[in-house]
Amino acid sequence: MGTVFSNVNVWTPHCESTAPVDVRVEGGQIAAITSPGSAASPGDDVLDCAGMLALPGLINAHTHVAMALLRGCADDVPLHTWLEEHVWPIERMLTPDDVYWGSVLGLVEMVRAGTTQIVDMYFHVDAVGRAVRDVGLRANLSYGIVADSMDDVGRRELETAEGVVATWHGACGGRIRAAVAPHAVYSCGEDVLQAAAKLAGRYTVPIHTHLSEAEKEVDDWSNVHGVSPVATLERIGVLEVPTLAAHCVHVSEDDIERLAAHGVSVLHCPCSNAKLGNGVAPIAAMQRAGVNVALGTDGAASNNNLDLFREMRTAALLQKAIRRDANILSADAVLEMATENGARALGLATGTLAVGAPADVVVVDLECAHVQPIYDAQSALVYASHSDDVVDVMIDGAFVVREGNLMTVDEDEVRSEVKVRAGRLRDGMAHPGTAA
Ligand code: NI
Repeated sequence: MGTVFSNVNVWTPHCESTAPVDVRVEGGQIAAITSPGSAASPGDDVLDCAGMLALPGLINAHTHVAMALLRGCADDVPLHTWLEEHVWPIERMLTPDDVYWGSVLGLVEMVRAGTTQIVDMYFHVDAVGRAVRDVGLRANLSYGIVADSMDDVGRRELETAEGVVATWHGACGGRIRAAVAPHAVYSCGEDVLQAAAKLAGRYTVPIHTHLSEAEKEVDDWSNVHGVSPVATLERIGVLEVPTLAAHCVHVSEDDIERLAAHGVSVLHCPCSNAKLGNGVAPIAAMQRAGVNVALGTDGAASNNNLDLFREMRTAALLQKAIRRDANILSADAVLEMATENGARALGLATGTLAVGAPADVVVVDLECAHVQPIYDAQSALVYASHSDDVVDVMIDGAFVVREGNLMTVDEDEVRSEVKVRAGRLRDGMAHPGTAA
């Protein structure tokens, strides 16, 4: 038995939607795309999607999903103050159960907004993995390694990272995969970065890291080392491994050439970069140089939501504003960033709606007043639609959201668990040293 999205308009990379079609799903794959009314077989579950648009599931290419629990804990401060004085002290209070419930909260928010796949970096990763399993998304999971050198601390960090890969790469029928994630060049010694790259190579998984996010970070690094963080990663051989680099806001033309030459995928997080006062990444220049740029939200503590519809709109607007050029980063290009480019970064076949592709399908209502009338579907999606317009979300052939209802976890339970835990963290912030 299959599922048919009947009489639906479709947006998919490099393919203009001309007329409604039937999209039939069977066995976790898109089995057929045919003219309306012709796809259903006896026993199929047929959804009438008139007035709606199907698109491939959105891919959040850089996040720390559990940080949904820290949403709003510290706003309006710069990156290093935010990290050192606010986020890290709170994170030291987090238990694995906190990370589980924070992750469930973030995943619920994301899947309701049409995100079907995430690239995550955090700690207590087994709890993140359980949350991904329970809510039903696809994910690439990794442990954020922080160590000055390969001393006892460094070796323990690498062991933890390897444990994540061994446990989660290929889990849940392949829905979950893994990466090795040295947090950043400034938080990991050279030998740690090299050991991480070696580990990633051994398991054939990518490196996931933060790179050249803040101006001060890059200036300080370059003053001490004489070369940029990107050049450092190249010199020590890390870029020989497929690399996913979040941010890349402060990169020179030479850096961009290096990223292109090594096939690095840049994970662009425009809202987080703007909110932390870090600037706007030169992604139009990167794309011209042939760099694959995917789209991420970063964590909810620096965004403060995990909504890729807002992120797409912001990405397009910021790039046009800062370049003073309305032609760059079209609606189509930004949709490709949020779908196909994310899949390309991960080496996966998701991010498209085509026969034989994995059935990650998002259905959006285009009849809402704030979207009507429709002259151009991609314009509607990027510039006018809200994430609340998402009606159905199918991942790997299974509905996670159907007709606006979440199918996998109890949202009331999620909300009450999160409130209790946030209350404890608030007390811990007010009285340091008292929270477990
Ligand atoms: Ni990040």
